[in-house]
Amino acid sequence: MLLLEQIKNIVGPKGWTADPAELEAHVTEWRGVVHGSTPLLVSPGSTREISLVVRACADAGVAIVPQGGNTGMCAGAVPDESGTQIVLSLARMNKIRNVDAANFSMEVEAGCILQNVQNAAAEVNRYFALSLGAEGSCQIGGNLSTNAGGINVVRYGTARAQVLGLEAVLADGTVVSSLRSLRKDTAGYDLKQLFIGSEGTLGIITAAVLKLYPAPGTISTALVAIETSGHAVRLLAHLRGELADAIEAFELVSDFVFGMVTGHIPELSVPFEHPYPWYVLLDVAVGGSSDRLDIALSKAADAGLVLDAVIAKNSAEAARLWRMRHSIAEAERSVGNALKHDVSLPISRLEEFLVRGDILLGELSPEAKLIAFGHVGDGNLHYNVALPDGSKNGEAVSSAIYDLVDELGGSFSAEHGVGRTKRHYLSKYRGDGEIELMRILKKALDPNNILNPGKVI
Ligand code: FAD
Ligand code: MLT
Ligand code: ZN
Repeated sequence: MLLLEQIKNIVGPKGWTADPAELEAHVTEWRGVVHGSTPLLVSPGSTREISLVVRACADAGVAIVPQGGNTGMCAGAVPDESGTQIVLSLARMNKIRNVDAANFSMEVEAGCILQNVQNAAAEVNRYFALSLGAEGSCQIGGNLSTNAGGINVVRYGTARAQVLGLEAVLADGTVVSSLRSLRKDTAGYDLKQLFIGSEGTLGIITAAVLKLYPAPGTISTALVAIETSGHAVRLLAHLRGELADAIEAFELVSDFVFGMVTGHIPELSVPFEHPYPWYVLLDVAVGGSSDRLDIALSKAADAGLVLDAVIAKNSAEAARLWRMRHSIAEAERSVGNALKHDVSLPISRLEEFLVRGDILLGELSPEAKLIAFGHVGDGNLHYNVALPDGSKNGEAVSSAIYDLVDELGGSFSAEHGVGRTKRHYLSKYRGDGEIELMRILKKALDPNNILNPGKVI
């Protein structure tokens, strides 16, 4: 096929593969639930090469699926089954272009692994605030395209809030660069925000200028046992009162979920003598000693908000607690593919959601196992449900949960995006005006629907 030869010539021998064995990992989403097919994986080495590849595909009317680390939760980065869509990997676009410590910013290519971005900032005593379980393999371009969240949103906001400037390639190959490192810039529309969170359907992100923070200093980590999810919400308010904005992470995990993790990784354990119904794992930046955290937690215990608590004595203990949290997705996969509901709610309605959710599940699928955990500091709950083998109830359970979320003023997708697997919910839970405007934007930027078709809208 002429197009494939054209693409191979643009990127050179290091920039493509059609070997079925190598393609396999790129056409399968990480949980193995969705498989697609492609004639070619292309990995351009520069923005110019991406622009030329996209132009060639546009001329031939062939679709492109941008792919970062392929750790996404909604199968947005894998091609469909037609065998015609080209997968465009950003993996070779992995340079840290510069770190400007004085400006608290850095310019990176889209294919940089998130952990490498964090490390490059730390080398100059700066802090890049995005952190998630997949940070060793996801790419900053994927993080921006999904507007990823993770554990630090409570203090620093989502991926969207970490961006000062962006470069993207449009569906006709045009390069749009707003790679400025400014905190204030009101000259016209804020174009970078169009590409952030649009999951590769409006353009391919090739580089970004990221916002950095001062290093937060010593972090104190605690695992706190609580009675109900409502106590987590009240504990958050209490700690905010005591410690202001020092809370870096505030994660809720049910006892069932930690049991799943320790079952999967036997060297891990919950550091209490007996189990409690719920736990909060939290990080606070309160200087060199954990005394302020200790005092704040004692006051919370006096107020009846805390059943028990351990404060990590050193970084190894803290890392062990966080390993339990970051192993949840992997442990969940090992027990089968649960239905994933990545919902957000006003924090004040979380408890009501969990109570009513229990009743719903009891009615619809009494044998279902609830895998509830999440970034409760920012109102995001992973309300995943493992149904009994062979159950045909999946769609009914998901719809009932999302209807409840919608009734309580929440969103059916807090941080994982829409991708392919949640597309049908978008038109259900977004208003007609919102959907129409999304369609207008998609048509204006990608009139021939070649950028990640079949995803999001
Ligand atoms: P991919 O999966 O490759 O792609 C995701 C989407 O972005 C696709 O639609 C793809 O087409 C598009 N895309 C990728 N790169 C580009 C680009 N350069 N330009 C345009 N479009 C592009 N997510 C969270 O938000 N919070 C979490 O806490 C979290 N924890 C996780 C824990 C684990 C163990 C795992 C496996 C995943 C987790 N995720 C989490 C989901 C996932 O890591 C994030 O969605 C991440 O941002 C995806 O990055 P990626 O590079 O893997 O993107
Ligand atoms: C996480 O926070 O671990 C992931 O975003 C959630 C998931 O695996 O559902
Ligand atoms: Zn998450």
